[in-house]
Amino acid sequence: MIPSDLVKYKESGKKIIALTAWDSISGSLTEGAGADIVLVGDSLAMVALGFKTTLPVTLDNMIDHTNAVCRGFQKTIENQPLVICDMPFLSYHCGQDMAVEHAGRIIKETPAKGVKLEGAEPEIQAVISRLIRMGIPVMGHLGVTPQSYLNQGLRKQGESNLSKEKIKKESLLLQDLGCFSLVLEHIPDLLAKEIRDDLKIPVIGIGAGNLCDGQVRVTADLIGLSEKQPPFCKPVFEGRKIFVDKLKEWVKAERIN
Ligand code: KIV
Repeated sequence: MIPSDLVKYKESGKKIIALTAWDSISGSLTEGAGADIVLVGDSLAMVALGFKTTLPVTLDNMIDHTNAVCRGFQKTIENQPLVICDMPFLSYHCGQDMAVEHAGRIIKETPAKGVKLEGAEPEIQAVISRLIRMGIPVMGHLGVTPQSYLNQGLRKQGESNLSKEKIKKESLLLQDLGCFSLVLEHIPDLLAKEIRDDLKIPVIGIGAGNLCDGQVRVTADLIGLSEKQPPFCKPVFEGRKIFVDKLKEWVKAERIN
């Protein structure tokens, strides 16, 4: 699959499922679960590297982890999920040439077939348009954009009229620039639905209600491994507790033996 194939999912009403992965085990689990897209999100800063925010993760980290994720895949190439890699903080903010060089490294040095960038400020628009013209597919990301943590925290976006109109306008803009899909994070359900209805490209939600063209989740949150769960992701099981309890049992039994 290539990124532009995703529009067929939207046209046929087939829901798109995206899961994040950060290493070869999570790559193998998310592929095994049947995800259409495996996103190597910069949330790996917290999930895999122990940082408090996504800001410290580097381009080299993203490249190394994307390759590890893909080494975990077990299906034949044509049956593997589409891999998208996040461009980390400041890897696309220092001019178009540098952004092309950095996105180009992701495409040349990993099996990822597209990159995800946060925001739609004029500088970001210029970068997105240039990347797409250079042959690098781009997924947009609006709503809560964790790379803007120092400005907006992780507060739900799109609640005031001003914020709602901004997100709607920027969504259309990202589509017009040629993004192949758009992630909407932590915004009101109704706003996500309106945007989904307005756009031809697939809208993939996280904390944005069920009426999107697809859903994306941080897999560590979904399987209950994260220390701090976001309010909009109910784990499918208490992974952390189950693993710790089982390991404790083993440790206890080994001490006795
Ligand atoms: O980094 C990430 O995991 C993401 C998802 C929240 C969409 O961008």
